[in-house]
Amino acid sequence: MHKDVIVIGAGGHAKVIADIVRKSGDNLIGFLDDSKQAGTEFFDAFILGNTDSYQEYIQKEFIIAIGNNAIREQIAKKMQGVTFYTAIHPTAVIAEGVTIGEGTCVMANAVINADARVGKHCIINTASVIEHDNQISDYVHLSPVAALAGTVTVGERTHVGIGAKVKNNTDICADVMVGAGTVVVNSITEKGTYVGVPARKVK
Ligand SMILES: CC(C)(COP(=O)(O)OP(=O)(O)OC[C@H]1O[C@@H](n2cnc3c(N)ncnc32)[C@H](O)[C@@H]1OP(=O)(O)O)[C@@H](O)C(=O)NCCC(=O)NCCS
Repeated sequence: MHKDVIVIGAGGHAKVIADIVRKSGDNLIGFLDDSKQAGTEFFDAFILGNTDSYQEYIQKEFIIAIGNNAIREQIAKKMQGVTFYTAIHPTAVIAEGVTIGEGTCVMANAVINADARVGKHCIINTASVIEHDNQISDYVHLSPVAALAGTVTVGERTHVGIGAKVKNNTDICADVMVGAGTVVVNSITEKGTYVGVPARKVK
Protein backbone atom coordinates (compact mmCIF):
# COMPACT_ATOMS: atom_id res chain seq x y z
CA MET A 1 0.00 0.00 0.00
CA HIS A 2 1.33 3.45 -0.89
CA LYS A 3 2.14 5.72 2.01
CA ASP A 4 1.26 9.42 2.23
CA VAL A 5 4.43 11.20 3.30
CA ILE A 6 5.15 14.71 4.55
CA VAL A 7 8.74 15.93 4.58
CA ILE A 8 9.80 18.26 7.41
CA GLY A 9 12.25 20.85 6.04
CA ALA A 10 12.54 22.26 2.55
CA GLY A 11 16.21 22.55 1.68
CA GLY A 12 18.57 20.52 -0.48
CA HIS A 13 18.49 17.47 1.80
CA ALA A 14 14.67 17.57 1.74
CA LYS A 15 14.71 17.36 -2.08
CA VAL A 16 16.83 14.21 -1.94
CA ILE A 17 14.42 12.62 0.52
CA ALA A 18 11.38 13.72 -1.52
CA ASP A 19 12.96 12.05 -4.54
CA ILE A 20 13.35 8.80 -2.57
CA VAL A 21 9.71 8.96 -1.47
CA ARG A 22 8.60 9.24 -5.10
CA LYS A 23 11.03 6.60 -6.36
CA SER A 24 9.70 4.24 -3.68
CA GLY A 25 6.21 4.62 -5.18
CA ASP A 26 4.87 6.53 -2.17
CA ASN A 27 2.92 9.79 -2.28
CA LEU A 28 4.74 13.01 -1.44
CA ILE A 29 2.01 15.16 0.13
CA GLY A 30 4.22 18.24 0.64
CA PHE A 31 6.68 19.95 2.97
CA LEU A 32 6.48 21.67 6.36
CA ASP A 33 9.08 24.39 6.81
CA ASP A 34 9.61 27.34 9.17
CA SER A 35 11.38 29.61 6.69
CA LYS A 36 9.22 29.27 3.57
CA GLN A 37 5.72 30.66 3.10
CA ALA A 38 2.80 28.19 3.02
CA GLY A 39 1.65 27.78 -0.59
CA THR A 40 5.13 28.21 -2.08
CA GLU A 41 5.94 25.65 -4.72
CA PHE A 42 8.94 23.48 -3.91
CA PHE A 43 10.31 20.46 -5.81
CA ASP A 44 7.04 19.91 -7.70
CA ALA A 45 5.00 20.02 -4.49
CA PHE A 46 3.98 22.72 -1.99
CA ILE A 47 4.92 24.07 1.41
CA LEU A 48 1.88 23.13 3.52
CA GLY A 49 2.75 25.14 6.63
CA ASN A 50 5.33 25.46 9.37
CA THR A 51 6.73 22.53 11.35
CA ASP A 52 4.25 23.04 14.21
CA SER A 53 1.33 22.40 11.85
CA TYR A 54 2.19 18.67 11.65
CA GLN A 55 -0.79 17.96 13.94
CA GLU A 56 -3.16 18.88 11.08
CA TYR A 57 -1.73 15.93 9.12
CA ILE A 58 -1.43 13.42 11.95
CA GLN A 59 -2.78 10.56 9.83
CA LYS A 60 0.18 10.89 7.41
CA GLU A 61 3.76 9.66 7.80
CA PHE A 62 6.61 12.11 8.42
CA ILE A 63 10.33 12.25 7.79
CA ILE A 64 12.56 14.98 9.18
CA ALA A 65 14.84 16.21 6.39
CA ILE A 66 17.10 18.49 8.40
CA GLY A 67 20.83 17.86 8.24
CA ASN A 68 21.71 19.25 11.68
CA ASN A 69 21.67 16.22 13.99
CA ALA A 70 20.75 18.08 17.19
CA ILE A 71 17.87 19.96 15.51
CA ARG A 72 16.61 16.74 13.94
CA GLU A 73 16.58 15.16 17.40
CA GLN A 74 14.72 18.12 18.96
CA ILE A 75 12.01 18.02 16.30
CA ALA A 76 11.66 14.22 16.51
CA LYS A 77 11.21 14.39 20.28
CA LYS A 78 8.60 17.15 19.92
CA MET A 79 6.52 15.18 17.38
CA GLN A 80 5.00 12.72 19.85
CA GLY A 81 2.48 10.19 18.55
CA VAL A 82 3.28 10.46 14.84
CA THR A 83 4.33 7.71 12.48
CA PHE A 84 7.78 8.31 11.04
CA TYR A 85 8.60 7.22 7.50
CA THR A 86 11.85 5.39 6.78
CA ALA A 87 13.19 6.36 3.33
CA ILE A 88 15.29 3.76 1.55
CA HIS A 89 16.43 4.51 -2.00
CA PRO A 90 15.72 1.58 -4.37
CA THR A 91 19.44 1.30 -5.22
CA ALA A 92 20.57 0.97 -1.58
CA VAL A 93 21.85 -2.49 -0.66
CA ILE A 94 20.61 -3.73 2.68
CA ALA A 95 21.94 -7.12 3.81
CA GLU A 96 20.21 -9.76 5.89
CA GLY A 97 20.00 -9.16 9.61
CA VAL A 98 20.11 -5.36 9.28
CA THR A 99 17.76 -3.25 11.39
CA ILE A 100 16.97 0.37 10.53
CA GLY A 101 15.15 2.71 12.92
CA GLU A 102 12.13 4.87 12.10
CA GLY A 103 12.72 8.21 10.39
CA THR A 104 16.10 7.17 8.98
CA CYS A 105 16.97 7.77 5.33
CA VAL A 106 19.28 5.56 3.30
CA MET A 107 20.32 7.24 0.07
CA ALA A 108 21.29 6.05 -3.39
CA ASN A 109 23.99 3.36 -3.60
CA ALA A 110 24.53 3.16 0.15
CA VAL A 111 25.44 -0.30 1.45
CA ILE A 112 24.51 -1.59 4.91
CA ASN A 113 26.01 -4.99 5.48
CA ALA A 114 25.04 -8.05 7.50
CA ASP A 115 23.75 -7.67 11.04
CA ALA A 116 24.43 -3.92 11.22
CA ARG A 117 22.03 -1.91 13.38
CA VAL A 118 21.11 1.65 12.41
CA GLY A 119 19.18 3.82 14.85
CA LYS A 120 16.31 6.31 14.46
CA HIS A 121 16.43 9.51 12.39
CA CYS A 122 19.86 8.81 10.93
CA ILE A 123 21.11 10.04 7.55
CA ILE A 124 22.95 7.32 5.66
CA ASN A 125 24.04 9.44 2.74
CA THR A 126 24.81 8.71 -0.89
CA ALA A 127 27.20 5.79 -1.52
CA SER A 128 28.22 5.51 2.11
CA VAL A 129 29.18 2.09 3.48
CA ILE A 130 28.25 0.58 6.84
CA GLU A 131 29.97 -2.76 7.15
CA HIS A 132 28.83 -5.86 9.02
CA ASP A 133 27.97 -5.70 12.73
CA ASN A 134 28.16 -1.89 13.00
CA GLN A 135 26.03 -0.22 15.67
CA ILE A 136 24.94 3.24 14.57
CA SER A 137 23.10 5.22 17.26
CA ASP A 138 20.15 7.58 16.79
CA TYR A 139 20.53 10.94 14.94
CA VAL A 140 23.86 10.03 13.34
CA HIS A 141 24.77 11.46 9.92
CA LEU A 142 27.09 9.48 7.68
CA SER A 143 28.00 11.82 4.78
CA PRO A 144 28.36 10.78 1.12
CA VAL A 145 31.00 8.08 0.44
CA ALA A 146 31.99 7.80 4.10
CA ALA A 147 32.93 4.21 4.94
CA LEU A 148 32.80 2.34 8.24
CA ALA A 149 34.60 -1.03 8.31
CA GLY A 150 33.29 -4.00 10.28
CA THR A 151 32.17 -3.83 13.92
CA VAL A 152 32.33 -0.05 14.30
CA THR A 153 30.10 1.76 16.80
CA VAL A 154 29.01 5.38 16.41
CA GLY A 155 27.39 7.39 19.22
CA GLU A 156 24.32 9.63 19.08
CA ARG A 157 24.42 12.78 16.92
CA THR A 158 27.89 12.09 15.59
CA HIS A 159 28.52 13.36 12.06
CA VAL A 160 31.00 11.50 9.86
CA GLY A 161 32.11 13.87 7.06
CA ILE A 162 32.25 13.28 3.35
CA GLY A 163 34.72 10.58 2.30
CA ALA A 164 35.85 9.85 5.86
CA LYS A 165 36.90 6.32 6.74
CA VAL A 166 36.78 4.43 10.01
CA LYS A 167 38.92 1.36 10.70
CA ASN A 168 37.29 -1.88 11.78
CA ASN A 169 36.64 -2.51 15.50
CA THR A 170 36.69 1.24 16.32
CA ASP A 171 34.27 3.09 18.59
CA ILE A 172 33.30 6.75 18.14
CA CYS A 173 31.41 8.32 21.03
CA ALA A 174 28.43 10.69 20.87
CA ASP A 175 28.62 14.30 19.56
CA VAL A 176 31.73 13.92 17.45
CA MET A 177 32.37 15.72 14.14
CA VAL A 178 34.67 13.67 11.91
CA GLY A 179 35.96 16.00 9.18
CA ALA A 180 35.85 15.45 5.43
CA GLY A 181 38.39 12.86 4.28
CA THR A 182 39.48 11.98 7.82
CA VAL A 183 40.71 8.48 8.62
CA VAL A 184 39.84 7.26 12.12
CA VAL A 185 42.17 4.46 13.23
CA ASN A 186 41.76 4.67 17.02
CA SER A 187 38.58 4.87 19.06
CA ILE A 188 37.32 8.39 19.89
CA THR A 189 36.09 8.68 23.47
CA GLU A 190 35.77 12.48 23.83
CA LYS A 191 33.30 14.66 21.95
CA GLY A 192 34.79 17.26 19.60
CA THR A 193 36.01 17.80 16.04
CA TYR A 194 38.58 15.41 14.56
CA VAL A 195 40.36 15.80 11.21
CA GLY A 196 43.25 14.42 9.21
CA VAL A 197 45.00 11.13 8.53
CA PRO A 198 45.14 9.72 11.12
CA ALA A 199 42.43 11.66 12.91
CA ARG A 200 43.50 14.26 15.50
CA LYS A 201 41.33 16.47 17.68
CA VAL A 202 41.18 20.13 16.58
CA LYS A 203 38.23 21.42 18.62
C1 LIG B 1 35.95 19.41 10.27
C2 LIG B 1 35.13 20.64 9.94
C3 LIG B 1 33.72 20.50 10.57
C4 LIG B 1 35.83 21.82 10.60
O1 LIG B 1 35.17 22.98 10.35
P1 LIG B 1 35.39 24.24 11.31
O2 LIG B 1 34.92 23.88 12.69
O3 LIG B 1 34.78 25.42 10.65
O4 LIG B 1 36.97 24.35 11.46
P2 LIG B 1 38.03 25.18 10.58
O5 LIG B 1 37.61 25.28 9.15
O6 LIG B 1 38.29 26.43 11.35
O7 LIG B 1 39.31 24.22 10.66
C5 LIG B 1 40.09 24.04 11.83
C6 LIG B 1 41.44 23.48 11.39
O8 LIG B 1 41.25 22.15 10.88
C7 LIG B 1 41.64 22.07 9.49
N1 LIG B 1 40.63 21.25 8.83
C8 LIG B 1 39.30 21.50 8.74
N2 LIG B 1 38.68 20.48 8.12
C9 LIG B 1 39.64 19.59 7.80
C10 LIG B 1 39.59 18.33 7.15
N3 LIG B 1 38.43 17.81 6.74
N4 LIG B 1 40.74 17.65 7.00
C11 LIG B 1 41.93 18.17 7.44
N5 LIG B 1 42.03 19.37 8.09
C12 LIG B 1 40.89 20.07 8.24
C13 LIG B 1 41.65 23.51 8.99
O9 LIG B 1 42.53 23.66 7.91
C14 LIG B 1 42.09 24.24 10.24
O10 LIG B 1 43.48 24.08 10.41
P3 LIG B 1 44.42 25.31 10.94
O11 LIG B 1 43.90 25.62 12.32
O12 LIG B 1 45.78 24.71 10.92
O13 LIG B 1 44.19 26.43 9.96
C15 LIG B 1 34.95 20.88 8.42
O14 LIG B 1 36.13 21.37 7.83
C16 LIG B 1 34.58 19.60 7.69
O15 LIG B 1 35.43 18.79 7.27
N6 LIG B 1 33.25 19.40 7.55
C17 LIG B 1 32.70 18.23 6.90
C18 LIG B 1 31.67 18.69 5.92
C19 LIG B 1 30.99 17.52 5.25
O16 LIG B 1 31.46 16.40 5.23
N7 LIG B 1 29.84 17.81 4.71
C20 LIG B 1 29.02 16.81 4.07
C21 LIG B 1 27.60 17.16 4.27
S1 LIG B 1 26.55 16.01 3.50
